[in-house]
Amino acid sequence: METQIQRDDRQQKPTFQYSLENKLFFENAPTDWLSNLARIKGLQTNCDLQLIETHIRQNLQNPNYAALELGFGYGRAIRWLREQNPIKRIYGVDHCARFFSLLKQDLKNDPSVTLINCSATKFKVNEPLDLILWMWAGFFELDEGDKQIAMTHISANLIKGGQFVIEFPDEIIGHEKIEECKNGKIRVNTDFGNLNVFKGTASGIVDIAKAAELQLAMELSYLTLTAIPRRILIFEKH
Ligand SMILES: C[S@@+](CC[C@H](N)C(=O)[O-])C[C@H]1O[C@@H](n2cnc3c(N)ncnc32)[C@H](O)[C@@H]1O
Repeated sequence: METQIQRDDRQQKPTFQYSLENKLFFENAPTDWLSNLARIKGLQTNCDLQLIETHIRQNLQNPNYAALELGFGYGRAIRWLREQNPIKRIYGVDHCARFFSLLKQDLKNDPSVTLINCSATKFKVNEPLDLILWMWAGFFELDEGDKQIAMTHISANLIKGGQFVIEFPDEIIGHEKIEECKNGKIRVNTDFGNLNVFKGTASGIVDIAKAAELQLAMELSYLTLTAIPRRILIFEKH
């Protein structure tokens, strides 16, 4: 217990600073900035989601299905999930209050969607989940300590046989100003703020997942429409 408290204390300050800066970055981004970036990254047609569809289909067709998307942004993956076969419940978590208000207004007539404006390390969902999606490098917006805290916290909601999908780029490209810092940290600099990205590797993510009692079921490498090399890891809980 003591070790746990000490470790959390050490992480408190830097974690708070970078996550506040990242949250402010999205709060201050021009309205269409993220959807335009999806075009630059080649993700606007949902090629990543189409790629995993066959691997998650069995769960998607279960009528008692509950899914969660982390960092829903402008709602790309949540909209895609709604278009799939009968889904009992879809949860979305994002710490950006602006994205939360915009999507909540957009989906206000859909009782199957519950949006939560909270950090991925802290939210609560009182329902067992069949599927968790963390697409478009959202996992890289957490530093190494928070990655483990978040994955352990989130996977506790997953049923046995449930799937946890993480998508990320092999290289961070497609931004105008990228500053490489130490230990895989990258800063995306714009005139409305800076985004801190903590680049990881597939094997590093597999280790974090193992510590959260998740096993790698599938690794997919693919190119987006704009030829950016990206990767998808599908984990399962046993
Ligand atoms: C690049 S966007 C991805 C949007 C969406 N997942 C997609 O695939 O289209 C990353 C999103 O994650 C959110 N985010 C980043 N860190 C977060 C955290 N610690 N907790 C909750 N949301 C977070 C950001 O606010 C942003 O909306």
